[in-house]
Amino acid sequence: MKIALGADHGGFELKEAIKTFLTDKGFDVTDMGPSTKDSVDYNDYAIKVAEGVRDGKFDRGILLCGTGIGMSIMANKIKGIRAALVHDVFTAEATRLHNDSNVLAMGGRVIGVDLALKIVDVWVNTEFSGVERHERRVNKINNYWE
Ligand code: RB5
Repeated sequence: MKIALGADHGGFELKEAIKTFLTDKGFDVTDMGPSTKDSVDYNDYAIKVAEGVRDGKFDRGILLCGTGIGMSIMANKIKGIRAALVHDVFTAEATRLHNDSNVLAMGGRVIGVDLALKIVDVWVNTEFSGVERHERRVNKINNYWE
């Protein structure tokens, strides 16, 4: 599975920890930046990662900022992206089973590294359920644009 990572200064350390974790597990990880902890706009990295997922260069994306909120809002503006803001293991699994989320957003100022890595582990290893009602609802998300 090809996974793109992106962050801002608030999520930089979490990005680094997730990069090591996923690489050690054998995932094909691309770090879309930033490469330092300097202050940056989360928007720019959300767009890079989300567009890469939309274009099929990556199977999934993981975005980290201080809260995960700006990243998730920005990523969800890109057509084809279903970004989920997650800070617990239950919703990490649920958003894969029910929403087929293709981007995971978390806040480096919200949770610790240990919990974040558990969330990542569950999220990358859970397949969409394929249950008809969930598929119907995901299709409604995918097909609604105003
Ligand atoms: C940056 O200070 C902070 O606003 C950002 O990391 C994120 O939390 C935005 O949603």
